[in-house]
Amino acid sequence: MVDRIASPSDGTFDRRFVDDLDELLRWRRDVRRFRTDPLAPGLLDEVLASAELSPSVGNSQPWRWVEVRSAEPRASVTASFERCNAEALDGYRGDRARAYAGLKLSGLRDAPVHLAVCCAAAGDQGHGLGRRTMPQTLEYSVATAVSTLWLAARARGVGVGWVSIVDPDDVTDALGVPDDWSLVAYLCIGYPEADDDVPALERAGWQARTDSQTRYRVV
Ligand SMILES: Cc1cc2nc3c(=O)[nH]c(=O)nc-3n(C[C@H](O)[C@H](O)[C@H](O)COP(=O)(O)O)c2cc1C
Repeated sequence: MVDRIASPSDGTFDRRFVDDLDELLRWRRDVRRFRTDPLAPGLLDEVLASAELSPSVGNSQPWRWVEVRSAEPRASVTASFERCNAEALDGYRGDRARAYAGLKLSGLRDAPVHLAVCCAAAGDQGHGLGRRTMPQTLEYSVATAVSTLWLAARARGVGVGWVSIVDPDDVTDALGVPDDWSLVAYLCIGYPEADDDVPALERAGWQARTDSQTRYRVV
């Protein structure tokens, strides 16, 4: 892993940085169309080093990164996606089915990097803090790391696509990870074919963002 150069910052951020951060949030996309060229040397390590700064319950850091380079597990994951995607299509009817069939829902065939992100349940790190009442916070912690990775990648011009249309047992079997590791995310990573500030599903007419007021209440 690449060591980060210590920042001269004192931990305060000016308005320009805040505006840039908001731009990053606006331009982060779930990417499914990738160029096939490899990432620049050291770039994945740099992104993972940033993702390591994520919060976790009890400081447990339960995420485990599995870079899938070999053809065989990649093919197994792609086959699982294709089967699960066909099953998902079966669950829709009429216009929705036609729309679903037209969506591109993974970049598994083109992305130069496949990264499975797993949650290790058996580790002692964190000494159980926060998990007695909400054991699911271990997996939530891994999801926060994925979110950090997504932004750290986008800030460097790298696209990330989250593929959940797979059978998690197919994936963990194909990767041969320890029994106590569960799959949280299977990520395609690479340079995007194009950048956009509108989600692909919105552009495709599947689902637009909705008014944020409907998700907020004061009690
Ligand atoms: C937990 C999770 C699972 C997802 N799984 C898939 C997936 O299997 N295939 C896909 O195309 N997009 C997947 N996405 C991406 C969402 O469709 C995407 O985030 C959403 O449409 C908003 O678009 P944006 O990320 O570009 O803002 C997933 C996103 C999340 C957070």
